[in-house]
Amino acid sequence: MNKNRIPMIAGNWKMHLNAKEAGELALALKKGLDPDLRHEVLIAPTYTNLAAVREALSGSKIILSSQDVHWEEKGAFTGAVSPAQILDAGCTHAIIGHSERRKIFGESDEVVNKKMKAALAHNIVPVLCIGETLEEREAQQTYRVLETQLAGAFAGLKAGEVARVVIAYEPVWAIGTGKTATPEQAQDAHTFVRKQMEKLYGGDYAAGVRILYGGSVKADNIDTLMAKPDIDGALVGGESLKADKFLRVIHFQEVL
Ligand code: 13P
Repeated sequence: MNKNRIPMIAGNWKMHLNAKEAGELALALKKGLDPDLRHEVLIAPTYTNLAAVREALSGSKIILSSQDVHWEEKGAFTGAVSPAQILDAGCTHAIIGHSERRKIFGESDEVVNKKMKAALAHNIVPVLCIGETLEEREAQQTYRVLETQLAGAFAGLKAGEVARVVIAYEPVWAIGTGKTATPEQAQDAHTFVRKQMEKLYGGDYAAGVRILYGGSVKADNIDTLMAKPDIDGALVGGESLKADKFLRVIHFQEVL
């Protein structure tokens, strides 16, 4: 981390938990949070659990996020949830372009771009996910993939519009596999991402944008990841479903 950027630790609960369990987990996190903690903590429950989590989080600084958002305002889009609806559910942030959405639901960079634009137009903070597959990494395509995904996601967006965007680098081969990127691999990718953001929006923007690492982040590897200068936080899947483990991730200690 770099002291000029506020770290963010985010939990993506994916398609896990029922409303009662999600509310209980949120409450445990709220209770376990160091009141003096300076960085941001975000949780992204399943849509159907947003109400329970919102209630459990009342009076807490924990940020409520959706796991996705549709780009249309309203209409015949069965299964989709609009920006206004996620705001109404209490979310201020939305995960966009997660690799599971890209891979399982066929989301292209164009779709990701529409969602980015819709979220920003509603003052929702996008947590934009990018990352390469194992095949792409082995074929030395990591940088090309990241460059393409960033250019696609930010297409047509001006510097003034993207000030609050958070980027999450999540190498697909590290997600849910227990195979975390080494702090060096993550730092290397984050440096590249920051350089791309400099190309798109200039040095000041690049110096301020937060880049989270995601992919098998655990209580026992967060400390060394956070010691890297361009890792500004984490987007956590499995480990964010266990209150004690996620609280340890949230209260990381940088270890060089
Ligand atoms: P895991 O932490 O379970 O690998 O998931 C990472 C992720 O996809 C977060 O969005």
